[in-house]
Amino acid sequence: MNLQKRKIGIIGAGHVGSHAGYSLISQGLAEEIVYIDVDEKKAAAQALDLSDAVKYLPSRAKVHAGDYTEIADAQLLITAAGPLPDISKGQTRMDTLRQTIVIMKEVTESIRMSGFAGIIINISNPADVITHYIQHQLNWPPRRILSTGTTLDSARLCRALAEATGVDQKSIHAYALGEHGESQMVAWSAVTLGGKALAQLQKERPDSYGMLDPDAIAEEGKAGGWKILGGKGSTEFGIAASIAEVVRAIFHDENRILPVSVLLEGQYGQKDVYASVPAVLNRDGIADIIELKLSPEEEEKFSASCKTMSENYKLALTL
Ligand code: 2OP
Repeated sequence: MNLQKRKIGIIGAGHVGSHAGYSLISQGLAEEIVYIDVDEKKAAAQALDLSDAVKYLPSRAKVHAGDYTEIADAQLLITAAGPLPDISKGQTRMDTLRQTIVIMKEVTESIRMSGFAGIIINISNPADVITHYIQHQLNWPPRRILSTGTTLDSARLCRALAEATGVDQKSIHAYALGEHGESQMVAWSAVTLGGKALAQLQKERPDSYGMLDPDAIAEEGKAGGWKILGGKGSTEFGIAASIAEVVRAIFHDENRILPVSVLLEGQYGQKDVYASVPAVLNRDGIADIIELKLSPEEEEKFSASCKTMSENYKLALTL
């Protein structure tokens, strides 16, 4: 009998890669993690630090640094290499495109040679465009390559909504869609609190829910990353938890719906563009995309976000 172990390759042993690893092993989601980084010393150090943590974690995991030959038998690959936006220069995630493409040219070539054949989760920014670029370079089946995308922005949005309403964020369903970046938009028409449409609640309770300021809440969610980057120079816990959530949905074959960045092939009237929409995730990757009914105004904003990604993807192919 061949009992396969859950093995994950993580490319990039920086803030995000290391926190992702910690989330995965502390939640018992991976039995083996291999870190690959051009800075081999750093990859080895992160692996060693994480290995020490295993002694006091609920389940066993082997964490080590390695090279691309070691991901041949991994089921998942997380690409987390690339720069963080330099906020002192006012850089957005999209502004890091050129720098990240240089790195991704090498990374994709190495993945191609490695024999890896599993599911790729890209978190390198600009996440949507880079995921599309990797998919294109490797000609990877689109159902098996995605980005956490707005899983993180939706968490930030739910946090902002929880603060504004007093309702716990786990009881709120709200999606930021489109770009994991500046052009993201909120599907307000699909926001529910405990299954009740927020719009209806606002009508019924004009003095409390009716007083919410959707623009300010959306902005608070979107600004989350910048506040964190400004305060400590990196973001890591939120993205690490988002990765773990996506990995759990895949490894546990959950058919869980999460807002992840996927290749749209006609859904929402969009073609050949990676953007975040709620998608059903299981061990095959993207199992389905159940389309939300967006309002005309939301459709317009979503479409504008997709246009940004399309244009930058075209640019990426010329770099
Ligand atoms: C984040 O949103 C910077 O993309 C990173 O945390």
